[in-house]
Amino acid sequence: MNEALTRPAVVSRISDLIGYTPLFELCRSENGSRLLLKLEMYNPTGTAKIRMARAMVDAAEAAGELRPGGRIIESTSGNTGLGLSVIAAERGYTFTAVVDNHACSDKLRGMKALGTELIYVVDDGTEELATAAREELAEDMARGQDNTIFTEQHNNPANGVGYFPVAHELHQALDGRIDILIGAVGTGGALCGTTRELRKLVPGLKTVGVEPKGSVAFGGPAHDYYQSGTGTPEGAGIGALVDFDLIDEGVKVGDVEAFATCRAVARTGLLIGGSAGGVVHEALTRLPSLPPGTTMVALVNDGGEKYMDTVFNDDWMNDRNLIDPATEREIDETLTKLREN
Ligand SMILES: Cc1ncc(COP(=O)(O)O)c(C=O)c1O
Repeated sequence: MNEALTRPAVVSRISDLIGYTPLFELCRSENGSRLLLKLEMYNPTGTAKIRMARAMVDAAEAAGELRPGGRIIESTSGNTGLGLSVIAAERGYTFTAVVDNHACSDKLRGMKALGTELIYVVDDGTEELATAAREELAEDMARGQDNTIFTEQHNNPANGVGYFPVAHELHQALDGRIDILIGAVGTGGALCGTTRELRKLVPGLKTVGVEPKGSVAFGGPAHDYYQSGTGTPEGAGIGALVDFDLIDEGVKVGDVEAFATCRAVARTGLLIGGSAGGVVHEALTRLPSLPPGTTMVALVNDGGEKYMDTVFNDDWMNDRNLIDPATEREIDETLTKLREN
């Protein structure tokens, strides 16, 4: 790939603002190993997922499956839907998002504001994650319809391709000096897509996948979880893009630890989303024992602004027993100490 890795000074499409996201050094260990965050909330819609949304639409157009005036249908927890909303608006497609109430309300409101039609798979107001039911409905709605595609993010190779530029951005920014990539695994597009491309440039790269406790891609037991947009809940198939050959280690982080990390990181001045909290928690745990001079990059899928009603709302957190002051204090202390190095 031979693309310019700087953005033009003036652009005329919002999608031209995708990518070139910054790297932020959150902290370093005593021996000089550092944890860098790839801040994907600096993409339009505040999430990495607009990268794959554009790639899926590009692929459908190239295959002749989507033509002017066509309709896009996707099952989404919100971030993919936000990305597809932008691309559909730019290119004149109709976009229907099949959603559930587990999604952050700000993501749902954002899609609507961008002109997207929302269809709730369960409309009784329950918060339950309904990935499998959402996907079934989206597939049914698209079946047999002319010029209509179900982008099927869990099974669409373009999802992974959409993240190839992340590899090039990292490689260029760090001059190839990246040892560990750590990121959330839902569809697997972000972590496995980035890894697939980055290993061509950095063959020794180690990749760590993080999913919520309760998710099943890295084994059981299955139970409900509140980290949104990530993981594979019971009943949903593991996405075709989750390539275990590209993930050296798969680990699980609980909601309490993930959200406590979001709240601790916020006190450094940065708002990160719930799944990124899980990723950063795992990265902080590993950092002190890495060999001297290691560079670990954590993919931050989205920012914390969308989680004011949940992760950053004490009432919501308390109602679900998600606050543990001792855990929060411990993470706060670890982070503070690592930031002094
Ligand atoms: C907030 C958030 N974190 C993590 C993920 C997982 O990313 P991927 O589906 O690329 O594995 C997503 C995907 O929707 C997400 O929205």
